[in-house]
Amino acid sequence: MIQPFDFQLPTRISWRMPVSEALPDAVADLDSRRVMIVTDPGIVGTGLIDRIDNALTGAGCTTSTFTDVGSNPTTRHVASAREMAQDTNADVIVAVGGGSPIDTAKAAAMLVANGGEYSDYQWDGRPITQQSHPLITVPTTAGTGSEISKVAVISDESEPFKKGVLSPLMYARVAILDPEVTIGLPSGLTAATGIDAFIHALEAFTGKRTSPITDMLAIESLRLCWQHLPIATTTGSDIEARSQMMLAALYGGMAMDQSGLGLVHALSGGVCSRLHLHHGLANAALLPTVFEFNVGHISAERRHTLSRIVGLPSDAPDEALVVSMTEFVRLLGLPTDLSEHRESLDADVIDSIAEESMRMVMVHNNPRLVETSDCRSLIAAMA
Ligand SMILES: [Fe+2]
Repeated sequence: MIQPFDFQLPTRISWRMPVSEALPDAVADLDSRRVMIVTDPGIVGTGLIDRIDNALTGAGCTTSTFTDVGSNPTTRHVASAREMAQDTNADVIVAVGGGSPIDTAKAAAMLVANGGEYSDYQWDGRPITQQSHPLITVPTTAGTGSEISKVAVISDESEPFKKGVLSPLMYARVAILDPEVTIGLPSGLTAATGIDAFIHALEAFTGKRTSPITDMLAIESLRLCWQHLPIATTTGSDIEARSQMMLAALYGGMAMDQSGLGLVHALSGGVCSRLHLHHGLANAALLPTVFEFNVGHISAERRHTLSRIVGLPSDAPDEALVVSMTEFVRLLGLPTDLSEHRESLDADVIDSIAEESMRMVMVHNNPRLVETSDCRSLIAAMA
């Protein structure tokens, strides 16, 4: 029987190449002219921001560009971005980049409309009551799904633990998808961001809040990642693989946004902050052990679906499915455990990661009941 569900995605999704030509129209559609671009120095270095800036100024817009975004953005980055948006009287914010610039822009857009500081809203603090300032997202990686999600994940300056703030009032107005901008993404980042998309789909598909719509999106995302991520990783110039991965990330993000995540993401916040790892890299390292922990608690029907996606017979044993997932991570050149970080994972660090993970709402969506001692044992087993 189909359980009650909602599916809400107000963001317009525009597939356009090149994005620089599409942006002036998207800005005009929002009756905007003063644009603040939020990006990072790496993206500026590719020349993309110059092309976007030229197209916008050529269309009569005024622009300002904010580039002070860290790889793990903090409340300080968000406060600075919000300040620039207000100082320049920007009537639209355009986020160009991976998850970090997009989440920074999304958090700043929320603060422009709602006031206060980002930390006021963390841990179910101050409620978000106003729709965010207009935001357009342009993802330059195929992974985070942040371009269409209602969450912004930002760390505190004083505490490295990442905590998301989410609200249906935080969706971007428009997401413009141009797979050509991912062509230059290095192999390692392609793999790390791509496996993040895969895990969004996997956790949405195996969690407790599934729906027929998110199942459809998650299954297609998993299938596309399985088929195209290895090619995008080894042959970055393959526009077909890049296009399919951009769709996979979109579908995975939509599934995640509506149906939630699970234990990989619950653990990865603490792992990333303690070990200073990239989000996708940490997720890759966590996947094999967490999937093995969960697999027996995923329904037979869903395990059969997963088996078919990874090229196994429907009734393949759980162990074979775990091996396939692990080999997929290895094939992408990503770590399959945390053994490289054994030195940093003493008992105190493992305890703090376990405790932080249990504060995440995602643990409650995991197919298997999780306790602090499970988190501790899983991290210890990976080290
Ligand atoms: Fe993720």
